[in-house]
Amino acid sequence: MDKLLVHGGSTLRGSVNISGSKNASLPIIAAALLTDEDVIIRRVPDVSDTNYMVQILNALGAEVERSSGTIRATCAEISDTAPYELVRRMRASICVMGPLLARKGRAVVSLPGGCIIGDRPVDLHLKGLQALGAQVEFEGGNIILTAPKGLKGAELDLRGTSGPTVLGTDNVMMAATLAEGTTVIESAAAEPEVIDLANFLNAMGAKITGAGTRRIVIEGVAKLHGVEHTVIPDRIEAGTFMVAAALAGEGVTLRRVCREHLKAITAAIEASGHSVSFNEAGDACTVHRGTDLKGVDLVTAPYPGYPTDMQAQMTALLATTPGISVIKDTIFPQRFMHCAELKRMGADIKVDNGTAIVRGTEKLSAAPVMASDLRASAALVLAALTATGTTEINRLYHIDRGYEHIDEKLLLLGANVERVRV
Ligand code: EPZ
Repeated sequence: MDKLLVHGGSTLRGSVNISGSKNASLPIIAAALLTDEDVIIRRVPDVSDTNYMVQILNALGAEVERSSGTIRATCAEISDTAPYELVRRMRASICVMGPLLARKGRAVVSLPGGCIIGDRPVDLHLKGLQALGAQVEFEGGNIILTAPKGLKGAELDLRGTSGPTVLGTDNVMMAATLAEGTTVIESAAAEPEVIDLANFLNAMGAKITGAGTRRIVIEGVAKLHGVEHTVIPDRIEAGTFMVAAALAGEGVTLRRVCREHLKAITAAIEASGHSVSFNEAGDACTVHRGTDLKGVDLVTAPYPGYPTDMQAQMTALLATTPGISVIKDTIFPQRFMHCAELKRMGADIKVDNGTAIVRGTEKLSAAPVMASDLRASAALVLAALTATGTTEINRLYHIDRGYEHIDEKLLLLGANVERVRV
């Protein structure tokens, strides 16, 4: 298990290229199952989550090869049963359910484990697929979906108690592309990654309108064909580096971003006193650390609101921002594992009932800290950049799940970090 040593105090300068989106890549790789023709997907980040998804497709019988950021997949002969051991290790693999059901009329997928950010139910996924005519059974830790008469279009509402579901919307949208008739998904997720998947499916011959709104309409077709596609930039990686630049940078520039996807993140960083300027094309931005900093109140919300996946990183910034900040996560109220570790570094944070109250301190100091989940780990790396001393971040595999070569990118910007094989 690798660990990362971060020697605090360096100033970040220069520019960094943001990778393709992990959360767009995962459902798009799964969508390759919907056709027996060649699919080429570009700018897939080399992270363990996307490598898991490639392994799952291989295990299903697809021919998949990966050369750096490009994945070529041909799912000619595939099984309807996803490998239990692989699926249970990565929750997002649940998004093979919709494509398998649509392509094979049957899908066997392990129930996803919960994870540290909270219980991760799939009731809305199943409700949506049942509306299309699927029968659902549970056996031996697996979900068994069958559609003996094929899938039929339907009108359905995917709203849950915590709002829309991103992968639930993806699963139903993918299954509906090959259903007979028209499907209307109300209360759909509107994340950019959902739009990217819809664009990918339409390029395969699907007929989807309304992606990016709460109402998506899918007109079923008989078959989908091969496609070449480049995934969108990773807005969460971009947000993470924007926070790094605000914390420890002097005019750091991020390239290969998408201004449209970063509105809520940019607003939060500017509200706390820093400045963000985009170029004309909106595909690069420069962050300048502010001089008059102040605490902010943040409430996470489904897109286009402030993303829960950027909650931990903003907490790390606000831990040394003068004033009081109140951060509420309405999507994953338990997603505060990073706070205990930040407190080990001297942060003044009280967590109660899905809300963190942060009182900014002058500086944090190094401590051995434990990564717990992907975004909490990123928050610890950010906090360590300006902490006094050398912070040791253990269980680096959490970060490697979703950040492509984060240590190399930070080194390029002038951070003093080193990955140590343990
Ligand atoms: C996606 O997960 C992202 N993952 C998550 O990013 C992100 O945090 C989440 O959306 C919310 O934006 C990928 O895209 C691979 P949800 P997803 O279904 O789709 C509840 C990261 O850090 N819910 O939108 O699994 C659920 O409990 C990861 O990159 C139900 O109640 O999340 C949560 O409270 C972490 N029933 C809310 O909905 C269901 O059937 C939103 O979850 C499904 C979800």
